[in-house]
Amino acid sequence: MYAKEFEASLKAVEAARAENIAYEPRRMTAQEKEDLLAAYHPDYKKNEFTTLRIGPNKGEQVPHELAEMLEAHSRISASDVDLSAPKYDVDVLIIGGGGAGSSAAIEAHEAGANVMIVTKLRIGDANTMMAEGGIQAADKPNDSPAIHFLDAFGGGHFAAKRELLSKLVCDAPEAIQWLNELGVEFDKTADGTMVTTHGGGTSRKRMHAAKDYSGAEIMRTLRDEVLNRGIPVIDFTSAIELILDENGKAAGAVLMNMETKELMIAKAKTVIIATGGAGRMHYQGFPTSNHYGATADGLVLGYRVGAKLLYADTLQYHPTGAAYPQQIFGALVTEKVRSLGAKLVNRDGKVFMHPLETRDVSAASIIRECSDRDEGVDTGTGKAVWLDTPMIEAIGGEGTIEKRIPAMMRMFASYGIDIRKEPILVYPTLHYQNGGLDINVDGQTTNVENLYVAGEAVGGIHGRNRLMGNSLLDIIVFGRSAGKNAAAKAKEVTIGALTLDHIAKFDAERAAAGIETDAVSPKLLPNYTNQPSI
Ligand code: FUM
Repeated sequence: MYAKEFEASLKAVEAARAENIAYEPRRMTAQEKEDLLAAYHPDYKKNEFTTLRIGPNKGEQVPHELAEMLEAHSRISASDVDLSAPKYDVDVLIIGGGGAGSSAAIEAHEAGANVMIVTKLRIGDANTMMAEGGIQAADKPNDSPAIHFLDAFGGGHFAAKRELLSKLVCDAPEAIQWLNELGVEFDKTADGTMVTTHGGGTSRKRMHAAKDYSGAEIMRTLRDEVLNRGIPVIDFTSAIELILDENGKAAGAVLMNMETKELMIAKAKTVIIATGGAGRMHYQGFPTSNHYGATADGLVLGYRVGAKLLYADTLQYHPTGAAYPQQIFGALVTEKVRSLGAKLVNRDGKVFMHPLETRDVSAASIIRECSDRDEGVDTGTGKAVWLDTPMIEAIGGEGTIEKRIPAMMRMFASYGIDIRKEPILVYPTLHYQNGGLDINVDGQTTNVENLYVAGEAVGGIHGRNRLMGNSLLDIIVFGRSAGKNAAAKAKEVTIGALTLDHIAKFDAERAAAGIETDAVSPKLLPNYTNQPSI
């Protein structure tokens, strides 16, 4: 039930519905997309970026909020800890307990490594858990990894590292089988065939899903597997600094108990950063679909020891964040809603774009509708457009919403909105970090040996824009691969004397650049209070 203020607009949407269902909006031309992005996409707002003054990406632009963290002070100085007394000594140390970290742990364990996960919240408190719409894999007869590659390469503005994207799409069918065998309850027809749908920018139906809580289902399965194998998971403990050995190779991390602030040393032959994304950095003041711990920690840890970033200036604003009611502002409204037939319409009920343009184009289009064109709906706290969900039932038949997107139905029902009968209000929300640490195809950072990265902390797999369903895929493909490769590498590593010399070096670089800042990093958790941060 919407308040009276929305009545006129709702009537317009309803009146236009039948015609809008039949209407097939055309796709934008490449030039139209480029112009739209340049004018409206947040990544193109030059004044929202800072040029880095120190570190391996000195001279490159990143969002102000990230620059502050990358150039900040460490939370410790070398004299705060005793490197000669490690509390943990493992082959493979995994920082982060989401989908990538868990996949890595399972494969490293399978390879016989002594592996440990450390996570600042609990295993599964991660963006993986919040992923909704599905996971891509070209495993149907009309599809192929080559077609998947072309869709993703074009969608990412031809900027993806080819060898990474190639691995992503080629390993995808096997990744789905692996998950299926571990016990993920994918949507299937009566004969066991996986149900697949389109996502934005896909030329084939290759989105495999578990209704609209695909990430939660995958994370549930991975977490069970980690725990069943007895892999140690150190909860509520963050990595606050990487440790190198005297030869400049990754050799562990300084850990901090999030409650007591006790510092501990974890020594490791190889380290995997799987810390996830950065939505809680709230770049440009955007709300986010991300979990509470998404604060770009891995980028900071890697950067301070000299690992390079790739495309850290590009973020993904998911076109359909919930814009109303206020209590769920920024929460994800899965792209699957549009895959199932719902179109985006403005205040007057007019369809203003093809519903399955790529995400950056869709987000920019909504922002234009709500700004220069002034065709948005006033929500009381901002502008938004309608996502006409009743179209889904009109197209797919009664019961489609409850069957295919029950979590969406439930979320809005909590606020008295029946999405089977009423459209919902949406606006872009900060969803994904396209950029991250630069890796080679084995998952190792390009310039710090024995340091691996997997999941959202990686840059370059998707180029400058990611397609739906390729993130759940990359955490599995690159998580597993990092786990296997780090375990194999650990067999040949001899660790030299541990050092934290990089902290003083970074301090000296900051001082030489004349940077004055009180900021410390990694951020670990967002601060929504007036109290000092953790
Ligand atoms: O819209 C979604 O369900 C999000 C999927 C993704 O980011 O891959």
